[in-house]
Amino acid sequence: MGWKVLDDMELAGRRVLVRVDINVPVEDGRVTDPTRIERIVPTLRDILAAGGKPILLAHFDRPKGKVVPEMSLGQLVPALAAATGAPVAFARDCVGDIAAAAVAGMQPGQVLLLENTRFHPGEEANDPDFARALAANGDVFVNDAFSAAHRAHASTTGIAHLLPACAGRLMAEELSALDRALGNPERPVLAIVGGAKVSTKIDLLRNLVGKVQSLVIGGGMANTFLAARGLPVGRSLCEHDLADTARAILAEAEAQGCAIILPADLVVAREFRAHAPAQVVAADACPDGAMILDIGPVSVAHVTRAIAAARTLVWNGPVGAFETPPFDAATMEIARAAAAKTRAGRLVSVAGGGDTVAALNAAGVAGDMTYVSTAGGAFLEWMEGKVLPGVAALG
Ligand code: 3PG
Ligand code: MG
Repeated sequence: MGWKVLDDMELAGRRVLVRVDINVPVEDGRVTDPTRIERIVPTLRDILAAGGKPILLAHFDRPKGKVVPEMSLGQLVPALAAATGAPVAFARDCVGDIAAAAVAGMQPGQVLLLENTRFHPGEEANDPDFARALAANGDVFVNDAFSAAHRAHASTTGIAHLLPACAGRLMAEELSALDRALGNPERPVLAIVGGAKVSTKIDLLRNLVGKVQSLVIGGGMANTFLAARGLPVGRSLCEHDLADTARAILAEAEAQGCAIILPADLVVAREFRAHAPAQVVAADACPDGAMILDIGPVSVAHVTRAIAAARTLVWNGPVGAFETPPFDAATMEIARAAAAKTRAGRLVSVAGGGDTVAALNAAGVAGDMTYVSTAGGAFLEWMEGKVLPGVAALG
């Protein structure tokens, strides 16, 4: 692939600016899911082992160009130190004298974390002066933030043109896993797409029907397809104004030889709450006052049969309201089927997106998948077939 990796770079004694994505969930000052922090550790260890000085550039949340104390990266220092096992210093600014002094004072073996790049408006504007100010603190740039690569910001793209640049370990791993799933996959390829809305996934569905042999559509977005076929959806979430779009996607799939698997039966309830009384009905029999909250057992059998026939699976989005039992049942069963076939060495399975990863964790099978991406928005844009600016800038 067209980018350099860590092994191609001279790191000894160098100041290595590493763009990482440590935009992790925090509750009451505690990191509730350290996955993104854990996944950058190989890159940091390898830079340290090569005698380089890792200086981390990162964003946290969306402060929109202003200093927002609750969005300081300082709160992540303990979690970073725990994950890396290295001493972690922190600088209260990512540019200027404060950053320069912190870099000058770095000790061998230490990691330096610079404050939230998004505290400066130049970050999201990809302002060339701000990119130069960031680059002033480094000799080499390593991008290890695949999950922020859909953003054309100063710390993801601008800086990559100012310093010798390469992909970090996590970035390289993400890119090769995604290539195995859609770029250069073993066929047949099955995609499972769920989630609430068609409107957020139109480009993704259009791209997939040209690339995969079968496509399961589940979750709230399936309701829009059912309605577009003239079926009743009761009080379900449904984008009726997208009926034409849904029909166009179905027609395109047919033209491209992609089999679309829509729900054949549904789990419906009158109320959307945990353990609400639920009933299974055929796909054409959603009662007037009911909501569709999961796909039914016949549909699950269709999906597991599709998994059995596939060599490669790419998955984004739960097929039901998985956070609210019993409407998690289908997503859990599908997750277990994908995991079992992957464990048996007969399926390459790649999943991404916050809800999907949460569902795989809830099913206890995240570790069984071939690859679970750390990315949300970037994973979606990649599934849409888009070139991610942060990746393009490494080329
Ligand atoms: C994410 O959490 O998906 C990334 O860190 C990107 O964050 P953003 O959507 O605020 O750009
Ligand atoms: Mg996000």
